[in-house]
This record gives sequence, C-alpha cells and structure tokens, in this order.
Amino acid sequence: MAEGANALAVTAEDKTQVKYLKDYQVPSFLIDSTDLVFDLQSRKTRVESRLAVRRNPDASTQASALQLDGGELVLLSVAIDGRVLDADEYACTADALRIDNVPDAFELLVVTEIDPAKNLSLEGLYLSDGMYCTQCEAEGFRRITYYLDRPDVMSIFSTKIIADAQQFPVLLSNGNRIDSGDADDGRHWVLWRDPFKKPAYLFALVAGDLQCVEDSFTTVSGRHVDLQIFVEAKDLDKCDHAMASLKKAMRWDEEVYGREYDLDLFMIVAVDFFNMGAMENKGLNIFNTSCVLANPKTQTDMAFQRVEGVVAHEYFHNWSGNRVTCRDWFQLSLKEGFTVFRDACFSADMNSATVKRVEDVSLLRSAQFAEDAGPLAHPVRPESFIEISNFYTLTIYEKGAEVIRMMHQLLGEQAFRAGSDLYFQRHDGQAVTCEDFVCAMEDASGADLAQFRRWYSQSGTPVLDVSEAWDQQAGSYQLTFTQSCPPTPGQRDKQPFVIPVALALVGDDGLQALHSDKLDSESAGSLECVLSINEARQQWCFSGLANKPVPSLLRGFSAPVRLNFDYPLSDLLVLMASDTDGFVRWDASQRYALNLIRHHVSGDCSIDSDQAQQQIGQLCGVLSTLLKQGLGDEQAVGSDARWDADIDAALLAELLRLPDYAFIQDQFERIDMAAIHQARTGLMEAMSAQLGDLLLLVYQRLDSQLSAMGEYSPAAEDIALRSLKNTCLAFLMAGEQESPVALARQQFDSADNMTDQSSALSALVNCADSAAAPDAAQCLEQFYQQWSHESLVVNQWLGIQAACDNDTALEKVKALMQHPAYDNTNPNKVRALIGGFCMRNAPQFHAVDGGGYQLLADEVIRLNALNPQLAARMLAPLAQWRRYCAPNSGLMQSALERIAAQRDLSKDVFEVVNKSLADG
Ligand code: TRP
Ligand code: ZN
Repeated sequence: MAEGANALAVTAEDKTQVKYLKDYQVPSFLIDSTDLVFDLQSRKTRVESRLAVRRNPDASTQASALQLDGGELVLLSVAIDGRVLDADEYACTADALRIDNVPDAFELLVVTEIDPAKNLSLEGLYLSDGMYCTQCEAEGFRRITYYLDRPDVMSIFSTKIIADAQQFPVLLSNGNRIDSGDADDGRHWVLWRDPFKKPAYLFALVAGDLQCVEDSFTTVSGRHVDLQIFVEAKDLDKCDHAMASLKKAMRWDEEVYGREYDLDLFMIVAVDFFNMGAMENKGLNIFNTSCVLANPKTQTDMAFQRVEGVVAHEYFHNWSGNRVTCRDWFQLSLKEGFTVFRDACFSADMNSATVKRVEDVSLLRSAQFAEDAGPLAHPVRPESFIEISNFYTLTIYEKGAEVIRMMHQLLGEQAFRAGSDLYFQRHDGQAVTCEDFVCAMEDASGADLAQFRRWYSQSGTPVLDVSEAWDQQAGSYQLTFTQSCPPTPGQRDKQPFVIPVALALVGDDGLQALHSDKLDSESAGSLECVLSINEARQQWCFSGLANKPVPSLLRGFSAPVRLNFDYPLSDLLVLMASDTDGFVRWDASQRYALNLIRHHVSGDCSIDSDQAQQQIGQLCGVLSTLLKQGLGDEQAVGSDARWDADIDAALLAELLRLPDYAFIQDQFERIDMAAIHQARTGLMEAMSAQLGDLLLLVYQRLDSQLSAMGEYSPAAEDIALRSLKNTCLAFLMAGEQESPVALARQQFDSADNMTDQSSALSALVNCADSAAAPDAAQCLEQFYQQWSHESLVVNQWLGIQAACDNDTALEKVKALMQHPAYDNTNPNKVRALIGGFCMRNAPQFHAVDGGGYQLLADEVIRLNALNPQLAARMLAPLAQWRRYCAPNSGLMQSALERIAAQRDLSKDVFEVVNKSLADG
C-alpha cells in the first residue's frame, strides 16, 4: 500500500533544524498517567509503557495523528485499547512514532527495547560502573520509550523494575515504594508510584548494589521524611557532609521561602559517570559522585563547599523546577536562574557571604562575560536552538541568577518574598514561563518591570561607563553614567537596561552621608543607595561633601555589567584598604593588578620597570598592612597566636590572589597570550619577593593555629584560615629563586587533609625553581600510590598535572591519556585531564605551535561519537578564536574547521562548531 506508507512517513530529524520559541504550541495530546515496566538486562532491556492518552481540549487545531518522540529505540509492539496495531497502522523511525487517526481518549501500550550497556552518551538509561541509572533532562526520556517528551506534558508515573536480585538488590524510582516481590530465575521486582504530576524529564530509575546512609527530617508542619543517600560500599564514609547539607537546605527553604518538602522519602544516589553536576528528579536526585562525596582525607575545602551548594540546589528544585516547572526549554532559566540564586543565598547564609559573592562574580566575569561576547551569546531566554543540551550555559544559570538577584535588589526582601509566594501558589502543578515569574513579582509588589524584562530578551553584557566631576567650592560631586551594549549574534541594536547600581562615597573618615535631590526620602542622608539606571545617559549630583570622595560603585556587584571607571591607582588602594563592601575591596585589587598587566601587554610600562615595581610596592604595602593586622601581636606564639577575627582571612586570600587567566583575557580586544603570561608571572614573582618574609610569618602563624585547633572541620572559619595559608604558600613558591621547597614538602608529607595535601602538591608542581623538580616528581608519584583506589582523588591528580604551567604540560597530558587510571569515556576524567589543560591552563593550551588545539580537536571528534553533550561542552575555549592574535586565531579556526568537516557530527557539536565559525 504505497500511498498509505507514504502518508505515514516520518522525516528523520535534521541536525540543521532550528527550533524557535515563537513557534510554541500547546501539545495536541495529554498523558494523564504513565505506567512503566522495566525488565533490566544489560544488552536487552525491555520497556513496557502504558499511557492514558487524550486530546488536549486547549489545542488550537485538532490533529488526527499522535506523534511521539523517540531516540535510538527498537520498537517491539504498539497497541491501542488492547488491540495490537499492524505495521501499516503506524510509522516509526528511530526518532519518532506516529499513529494516525487515533480516538479522542485511549490507552496506548508501547513496548521497546534498549541497550543500556552500549549507551555512553549518558542520556536515557545507561550502565555506570555496574549500576543502572537514568538521565532524562532535557530530552533523554525519549531514549527510554516513545513519549511526548516535552516539559508541558505532565503525568502521574508508576514504575515497576524487575532485575537480578543479587546483582541489583536496590531498585529505585520516583515517589513512594508501594510494593515488591520475587520473580523467576533469581529476579525480584519493586513497584514505585509518584503521586505528583511531572514531566518526563524528571523521571528517574536506579538499580544497583548500593549501600545507604539514612537519616530523617521533620518538616515545620510535622511531616516525617526519611532521607537516604545511596553510594557504593567503599564510599559510605563520605556521605555525612551531604546529609548535613541536605538537612540545612530543607530547613532553610522553610524559613526563607516558606517551602516544605512534600513526600515521605527523599533519596540521593551517587554515580561516577555523569554529564553534569546533579539532577533534581522528583524524590530521587541523581548526583555526580564529585558533588556528593566528601571526606576531609580525600576532598578539598572547595569540594566540601561545592557538595553543600549542589545538594541544596537540587533540593531547592523540588519547588523551583518540579512543583512549578518550565513550559518549554526556552524557559530553562525560569528554574535554573532562580534555583542558582536560591542556592547562592543559602551558601552565603551558611558561610562567608562576601567570599561566596566574590567566587560567583569571579566565575561570571571570567566565563559568562566571554560567552556573552562570543559567537555563542544568547539571551537568558533564548529564542532558538538546534540542541537544547547546548543551552545549559553560564548565561542561563549564572546570568539568569543575576537577573533574579537584581529583582530582589529592586523590590526588596519582603516584596520579593511576596512575589515568590504568589508565584508558587498561583502556578503549583503547572508548566510556566519566565514571563509568569515576572508577572507574579509585579502583581505581589506593585512594581513595574516592563523595561526590566529586557534582561530576558537582550543578549550581551551591558557596558556602564562612569565618569566623575568634583566641585571643591560647592562641595558637590557629580557622577555621569552612560550605558551601552555591544552587538551580539542576531541582535545589533539594544535598548537601555534597568541597571541597579549600589553606591557609596568613601571619604577620609569612611563612608559619607549621601545628599542628592534625585534620591528618595528613604535613601537621603544614608551611607549607601541604589541608583536605578534606565536611560542611555544619566547624572547624579551629590552635595555637602568636604573633600573629593572615592566612589564605591556596583557594591556587592549589584548588576551583571562591565563597569568602566578610570580609577587612579591610589583610589583603588583606598577602596581595598577601607571600603566596607567586601566585593568592592576585592574588585579594587583585581583592577589594580589588571592595570599593571595591561600596561605591560601594551608595551607602555613593563612589569620589571622601576615604575611598575613601585606600583607593585604600593599594592604590597596595603596587603602588608592587612596581613599584619591579622597577625596582631607578632611576638605571640603557641595558643596565644590567633588570627585576628576582624580580618576575614578568606577575603584577604582573595585580595592577594591575582586575577585568573580567563578574566585577564576577557579584558582584551585582541589576546596576546604570551605577553599576558609574562606579565602575570612577573607580577606574581614581584609580589612574592616584596611580601616574602611576611607571607612566611603568616603561613607559620596560620599553620600552627590550625594544628592547635585539632581535627579538620569544613566550617567557614577553618576554611578561611586554610585558604589564606595555602595562598601564602603559592606566593612563596612563585619566587624566581630560593623557593621554600622544604616547606611545601613538609606540608605535603604531614598533611592530614586533602586541602593541604593537594595545595602543597600543586605548589611543588608549579614551582619554576628547578630545585623543586625532584620533590615535585616524588610527591606526584607518592600521591598516586596513596590514592589510586579513590577515583575522585585520581581526578585531582590528573587535574593538577594538566593545569601545570610548564612547557612540557602538553606532552604530560598526552602521556596521561595512556595511563591506566585514565578512562576516556568517563566525563569526570575527561574534564580533569583534557578540560584541566584546555580550560585551566591558558598559557600552555595557547602555545603558538597549536599543539593544544590539535589535541582538543582530536578529543572532540572522538567524543562526538560517544558522548555528544560532553564533546560540545569541551569546545567552549575554541569558540573564542576570533579574539586571539595571530597565529593563534588561525590555528584555532583550523581546528574548528577540521571538526566541522567530519561526517556524522552530532547535533550538539554541529551547532557549536557552526555557530563558532559563522560570520559575526
Ligand atoms: N537540572 C540539572 C541541574 O542544573 C542539570 C542537568 C543535570 C543536566 N544533568 C543534565 C542538563 C544533563 C542537561 C543534561 O540541576
Ligand atoms: Zn539546576
């Protein structure tokens, strides 16, 4: 029947096919319930899916055909209302299943077969280290069964899992465990049911030989919740921190957002093969081991804080993402931006708020600003995409969180809370849009956010140019703000944004009272105000000042903009030394260092010139004062020797640390990596020389204080002391000669925690002094021998070597790719080694022979075939090719072209490569 077959043909999805937000249509069909049966076998897993389907009364047109999404599936059978369909009654490709002329409501039974052992893409159902697990966001569920795989189709799920009882004693899915039993041939089964409607991307299944750590939590309204963290037996000693973090997050969400947990059970599972950090599946969060395991012996302070943040992030999604979800994937930032904002506030409350802010801004400015300035720039709410996996970006997450933070700033704590209450209440159980969120904020607060909405639609980082004018006689100080936003792909002209600028004026005796006729009565006379800049050019005049103040601008980084103000170096020192805003103090230190680096690169003033050395001397002068303040009585010894608690050691470590390469590169129109490298290295050496003795004194003081404190604790105060101590060590080891190799070696040998051990190792490995080489080699070997059985520690070992600033780094990386501990199908290993080199070792990756680019292109081509999501992510550094000087830009372009010329490119890699190569 040629005609019929033709009518039923389903076009294979083309990788150049672009999806547009403007084409959104409500689904033609709804699925009220989804009952799944999994018969788990590694090569042939059988999935039975029973769906209660009905026409959507809200659909504009009445489609006669039901079309379901699929991917890499083998279809075994289709039945409607119990009648098995003949092959000519449906059309089926690997990507879709279409059934014509379906009734208005019916039961659809689809049976498919999948091969989890072969699935290295880590989307859908796959085997990770002998356990089955799923990853369905964004479009992975279609690799499990044919389905309406879109977030606005929400269904009640039940899941029956049948598997070998010995190999897979633990069988998990979403919701509540309602039944279980034995089956034939040593198999057993468990039945789960989730009482909440959810989109398919929140479905999860886990089967394995797992152990579990248990605890419980009682919600404000008295619900008893069992908490379980499932890991391999060998990792049972690494779960306490995640459990403690989970309980803190649950309490915090009740107190700060009035949100309570809604099931009797909350489970976390750790898996070693995972494309991202973690996933918020309803009631069954699945985590990358790197984001859940934490033990002082094997994880650094940074890892402890990451675990706390990610556990909270995924838990918070239960409301911001699950109870209220996204209508379509263009709205991704609705859940991600909001949830990142929520987890950032949580972490700020649990630790040093200033340092958390500094870390977040640092990431935003070093990586998101570059994304926003490059060929992959997109709005917080994108208008089109080829592959949604490519849009889990810093813009959606981090800039998205900044957009929410600005609303919080503009509305104030109370009105913002009223807005979030209204949002959750109004949209509970719905799939909604960013627009719905902003409307709830407006309705609850009475604020007008019409112009503010441009943050969702316009891409690119706004530039805020600020200039000052001082009238000594009148005692008046005028600030002029000019905003603009550079063109980005598809967006040439931009309209002005609403930019909240938190501001203070610093005088000789601290912050000055603000008087301006443009300030509202609330702000008048106060020490800090928030200017809402919403035109291309605006001025504010402040009066009643005795002397010209130093402006403290964008306090707390109140808006994600590039702020240009031509600060004299001496003003930066004033801000560093005496501003009350920790972010501005840190920002001043970064600006100071950047100034010196920029002058060196432009050839105006070499870093070894007398003038530069003098300027470095002034910087070190301020740093010395702060360090000495922390030391207090220099003579104090033993238990009297305490770091002065008034000086936050963690912030001081941040002030000391030089801007990272990513941030420095982003400051240049044309990047000359070799010159930047020379300048930054020279600056670090000079600071090391000038601060040397004092750094040693601080190091020793902190070291003895920490030893006296005894057992390791991941408390913020302890982390702060270790951070400053290890920053001192890094500077001490960065000297041109006579590095205190013995000191680093001593720390390595005696360390009782991974923070100290790995800091000492990387100080040794990065030491330019040849006297350090034997110790570096020995310690690397010893470290591996000690930790070869701990996969996550081996990743650190790989990462430290990959990020080593040494001309042999590329050769080292190539050798390590052959090491038995390396596994090129495990994303954590690939990210540690290849990512460590390409993203955290800019000087070596950008060596002018192009060897780094070749390696990355080879790896992307290899990964493209097995894990397209990971392959596309690894490409990020090459996308910036236009910004580099010759010969680098041409070499990067060639590497991209070589990838583009491959046949069988995945949609993921195809989209990133082609957008990167496209003309402005
Ligand atoms: N929703 C997850 C989060 O941010 C993100 C995520 C986890 C993800 N795994 C993924 C996104 C795989 C895309 C693909 O919490
Ligand atoms: Zn998230």
